[in-house]
Amino acid sequence: MAKKIKKVKSKLKPETSSSDVDESGCHDTSEYKFVYYPDLKQKYKQYANKTGELLLKGLNKQMAKILKSITEQMEEQKLDVKKTIDEGYYIYNEKPSQGVGKDKGITWSDEEYEHLGFQYMYLKVKSTQRFTEVYNMLVRAHNKNYFEKFKSMKSVDIVSIGGGPSYELYALRVFFKRFYKNIHITLTTIDLNNNWKVPNKIFDVQFVQGSFYDKDVINTIHKYDLSIMSYVMFHYFDKPKKSNLIINMMSGRMKMMLVNSRVKNIGTYDYIKRGKRGKRGKRGNIKTYNLIAETDNRQVVVTTEDISPNLPDKKCKIPFLDVPF
Ligand SMILES: C[S@@+](CC[C@H](N)C(=O)[O-])C[C@H]1O[C@@H](n2cnc3c(N)ncnc32)[C@H](O)[C@@H]1O
Repeated sequence: MAKKIKKVKSKLKPETSSSDVDESGCHDTSEYKFVYYPDLKQKYKQYANKTGELLLKGLNKQMAKILKSITEQMEEQKLDVKKTIDEGYYIYNEKPSQGVGKDKGITWSDEEYEHLGFQYMYLKVKSTQRFTEVYNMLVRAHNKNYFEKFKSMKSVDIVSIGGGPSYELYALRVFFKRFYKNIHITLTTIDLNNNWKVPNKIFDVQFVQGSFYDKDVINTIHKYDLSIMSYVMFHYFDKPKKSNLIINMMSGRMKMMLVNSRVKNIGTYDYIKRGKRGKRGKRGNIKTYNLIAETDNRQVVVTTEDISPNLPDKKCKIPFLDVPF
């Protein structure tokens, strides 16, 4: 009988319990053996440790709900689901609008973002890319003690600027739950495209429709404590004139902006960074930090706060090997 009970108990073990994984996943001693693919054609094999595997399983559960909901929308609009997804595959793969229009780096047009089949493909593929990148970014920032100032706050209001489906906010939610579980957080996305409302609802993220170039929206951003720009700074703010908008965002309650992308040189960021050295008085109180390397802008931080020089005794392991790659 005792044997039977033991067997049932082990079956009921929560996904997250594993002898080599601690609660945060910080000191996971497992190897990077779990294989996953962050791209549409499954060309790029990537590896995660046990913590990463568990995190991806959690993400996939959310994604299944999101994709189901997008398919339901197609049905409600009496669209042929297969055909719509095929069209989405084409748009995603061929990027028909790339290079069209005056703004550099824009991969898809506003109309393409509106297409439900495109949204289906985008949501499916980008979920893993964005989640793994941002989660690793947060662990890197934790290792440098960047969240120290938030520890004394009861609640931290977080906003993603141009957040789209908000994978970055989902990563923040999971990260805070594991690393700073005593801090209550609220999550909001500001985006122009109303279609992202669906994934945001499933991720339990408040969605605000608006343009990040609008003065009123920038004033709204001041009411948050922490912000993130994932694949937005280079694509939408990479002109000296627009860098002033970023600087304008860094007032009011806003303490820190996390910036993620796969772009190694972001003019706007370097411009703000140079200002930090005193050439531009206006930027004097804004500090910048590169999380990967001094000349690599893929994961960087813009902040008005002094970062504590006390580093944690033991660095946490990133769950996703070589990410961003
Ligand atoms: C490259 S996507 C990044 C989405 C998300 N942050 C990510 O990492 O997956 C850029 C996002 O910016 C939004 N966007 C474009 N122009 C905007 C504007 N003027 N104001 C607010 N959002 C905008 C788009 O709708 C899209 O969701």
